[in-house]
Amino acid sequence: MTQAYEIIEHSYDVVVLGGGGAGLRATMGMVSAGLQTACITKVFPTRSHTAAAQGGIAAALNNMGDGDDWRFHFYDTVKGSDWLGDQDAIEYMCREAPAAVLELEHFGVPFSRTEDDCIYQRPFGGQTLHFGKQMAHRTCAAADRTGHAILHTLYQQCVKHSAEFFVEYVALDLLMDTDGSCRGLLAWCMEDGTLHRFRAHRTVIATGGYGRVYFSCTAAHTCTGDGNAMVLRAGLPLQDMEFTQFHPTGIYGAGCLITEGARGEGGYFTNADGERFMERYAPTAKDLAGRDVVCRAMTVEILEGRGCGPNKDYIELQLSHLPREVLETRLPGIMETARIFAGVDPTREPIPVLPTVHYNMGGIPTSLHAEALTLDKGDPDASVPGLMAIGEAACVSVHGANRLGSNSLIDLIVFGRAAAQSAALGVRPGDRHPPLERDSEERALARFDRIRWAQGPRKCGELRLEMQRTMQRHCAVFRDGPLLDEGVAIIERLAAGSREDLGLSDHSLAWNTDLAEALELDNMMTQATVSLHSAVARTESRGAHAREDYPARDDANWLKHTLAWLGEDGAVTIDYRPVHLNTLSNEVESIPPKVRVY
Ligand code: FUM
Repeated sequence: MTQAYEIIEHSYDVVVLGGGGAGLRATMGMVSAGLQTACITKVFPTRSHTAAAQGGIAAALNNMGDGDDWRFHFYDTVKGSDWLGDQDAIEYMCREAPAAVLELEHFGVPFSRTEDDCIYQRPFGGQTLHFGKQMAHRTCAAADRTGHAILHTLYQQCVKHSAEFFVEYVALDLLMDTDGSCRGLLAWCMEDGTLHRFRAHRTVIATGGYGRVYFSCTAAHTCTGDGNAMVLRAGLPLQDMEFTQFHPTGIYGAGCLITEGARGEGGYFTNADGERFMERYAPTAKDLAGRDVVCRAMTVEILEGRGCGPNKDYIELQLSHLPREVLETRLPGIMETARIFAGVDPTREPIPVLPTVHYNMGGIPTSLHAEALTLDKGDPDASVPGLMAIGEAACVSVHGANRLGSNSLIDLIVFGRAAAQSAALGVRPGDRHPPLERDSEERALARFDRIRWAQGPRKCGELRLEMQRTMQRHCAVFRDGPLLDEGVAIIERLAAGSREDLGLSDHSLAWNTDLAEALELDNMMTQATVSLHSAVARTESRGAHAREDYPARDDANWLKHTLAWLGEDGAVTIDYRPVHLNTLSNEVESIPPKVRVY
């Protein structure tokens, strides 16, 4: 069944999709530059997933007097990325980071303080001084609630600058012209069921990651990668989708995050023998090696029978040796999380933890100025007129094959700010909108109706669970060819089948959460599909992509970004583009690939 919808029209200079850290930083920058900006978000901004970022934001402020420098941050980020990060983008992020964090402080973020009243900074995994010689104190923290503090401050700043918010609006699709420009988006208002057309000269995707394609993840239920899926439906590619980060310390069973800041403050892992096993895997950085390295070590310990507990299937995080004052002032949030979700008191007992899906390195390929790229063969740097992407949805690429802890928040802030600067240069406030072609809107409505009126025998939750279990089993910390191939076959069957199998019992429009979840499931299926295909194709091990059948990094053949397109028939096309090994300026030297040890 289809229905003719009345669509409410809105015109803005810029539309930002997503009210997390990146979306709010961009919105704030846009409105303060005089651009009429709407921020459209499916959850209230201060409930966005950035609120869950605990340990901090990386910037070489050198507040702890250890001689930190943004060039050390640059080196660590290139090495952390296993050389898949673009070095020009990494230079930009690390160089801009100190100014961007000081701006946050001036906006009002309540950072923890040092004795002399500077922003407190703690060690974090892979963040070092003097090119790996010792750990840096680089991660600026507001106790262990840094994302929460940033999110609230940015929201207040947006309100102060009179940004307009459309809260609990689910974006359906981008409005694309046949010339390839993005003209805005179509959204569904949950509260009253109305549909809305937002026209804009710039549409900024800030929808976060798609961690919920997995069964066990630290990501909120809202992390379904809606913007990535819209980009795929617009016939544009996603980049490096095989690289999924597992965080070493998800609570066993519950998946909730225990911040890496816990190890930054002196916590460490032990196996069933009580051994501090990270000393064997990463003799210098130990428990603060890159996350991919730590997760593999934990997995090997468990697979070789040295896991803890009756089933020998978790690792213990020891914090009880830390002074109570450190735990209470620097890590109050995880003390509570451990009590509620693991039933342990970290002042006396270890916390049972497991590697848990945490972050997507891949996403919408963008330039340094946050412009989405078409990656047409003719011009690899051509951007999509009117379309931008920032935050976890984007792949600039500053994280390459593995992100360093606390580089996510700085990515959100630096590139949210860059998006606003670039829009301020490219958009004249109040410019008229050209006439809109209706084809892509009609396609968006046809998809909406297909899902809304789905009559199949299976519920959305069943299909979602099957997808999540497939990703968890077939595309995990360690991968191999046959397991990945099997995963592709299952996901393709599920994705194709979900069109016929899915059934909704509620077809109404106002606050229909069944429909919202079905739209999200459709978005997740597409990303699961391209992630698995990208993983099958990359026959090497790099960063978070560890292939048991191809255990070595292979720079001769694989020092390149993966691009994946999804056809309307569900077929995936893969291509590649070179990694930028050049820096932006001569203030720092590019780092040629070498063996990555911690
Ligand atoms: O462990 C954490 O606090 C997470 C930080 C991050 O992913 O950047």
